[in-house]
Amino acid sequence: MRVLGIETSCDETGVAVYDTDRGLLAQALHSQVAMHQDFGGVVPELASRDHVRRVVPLISQVLASAGMELPELDGIAYTRGPGLAGALLVGASVASALAYALNKPAMGVHHLEGHLLSPLLSNPRPRFPFVALLVSGGHSQLFEVAGVGRYRLLGDTQDDAAGEAFDKTAKLLGLPYPGGPALAALAEKGKPGAAKLPRPMLGSGNLDFSFSGLKTAVLTLARRESGDASPSTLPESRKADIALEFQSAIVDVLASKAIAALEATGLRTLVVAGGVGANRELRARLVREMKAMGGEVFFPDLEFCTDNGAMIALVGALRLPSAHAEELGFSIKPRWELTSLAAP
Ligand code: KG4
Ligand code: ZN
Repeated sequence: MRVLGIETSCDETGVAVYDTDRGLLAQALHSQVAMHQDFGGVVPELASRDHVRRVVPLISQVLASAGMELPELDGIAYTRGPGLAGALLVGASVASALAYALNKPAMGVHHLEGHLLSPLLSNPRPRFPFVALLVSGGHSQLFEVAGVGRYRLLGDTQDDAAGEAFDKTAKLLGLPYPGGPALAALAEKGKPGAAKLPRPMLGSGNLDFSFSGLKTAVLTLARRESGDASPSTLPESRKADIALEFQSAIVDVLASKAIAALEATGLRTLVVAGGVGANRELRARLVREMKAMGGEVFFPDLEFCTDNGAMIALVGALRLPSAHAEELGFSIKPRWELTSLAAP
């Protein structure tokens, strides 16, 4: 079965074809980062318009590199949610129109299920059951994953997501959007231990997170040192110290809670998904910790950590064969809980 996947939930237009026998056949991505950079964040209306411009040429490009024609597709998967409503509508409309013309099914899939299952695109693949740490721009969650569609929420953020904390703190320090990669790059120049920030909820006794206080702690620290000026006026080397400490704080909390989730469930396999999963410090720390506990950790390849069409095509391929009528209709869900999904 060959499924076209279309991702348009936020600021990346992603398209891919996944074959259930041969794996990923082709994929293409257009990132809107440069377009939104002047505004310091994603402008929803600009995002939708850019998806409109990019999606059809990307579909042609992906089919050409897969050596396929449209009628050879067995179905089309698009991101139904969560995400920006206008942006989601672009993918839903294009997928539904194509499906209608080809007389093939179109299925709306959950963006976070795409992230959660994206390590299945890599080799070796994790085997169910596992604990998943889902850390993206909008989510910081721990799940027990028993199989496709069998997700139990173990912990969640009470306020900002990890990626959001990276983005907001980077902005405070005067770094460009998206802040995560920029802040991580700056942190490489910092001196370990030269700044001190809290580890929110580290000893909370549960698997929940809270990251908004960390951003405030950075602001307070930077204001004290800069004589109340904006943190972005601090010398570059001091910003690097703060960036390093900020990243260490997030990594400490994410890693400890992920390990605690494994201990609580008795599982020994951890999967890390979502944009923050691209963070090198987080990866290195989890590799070390999992080795020490005799477990295994899986990360999606870097290109599948952030938003992409491949993970949407993959979920479509896993779910289309047993899709119910209500999963096939045209709809978007800008807000949508992952735990509301059923197994296929
Ligand atoms: O999963 P994703 O591409 O989009 C959402 O569904 O949210 O995640 C984007 C988030 C952004 O907040 C970005 O700053 C963060 O992932 N991110 C990183 C890194 N690369 C991307 N955060 C920390 N370190 C990175 N290397
Ligand atoms: Zn995402």
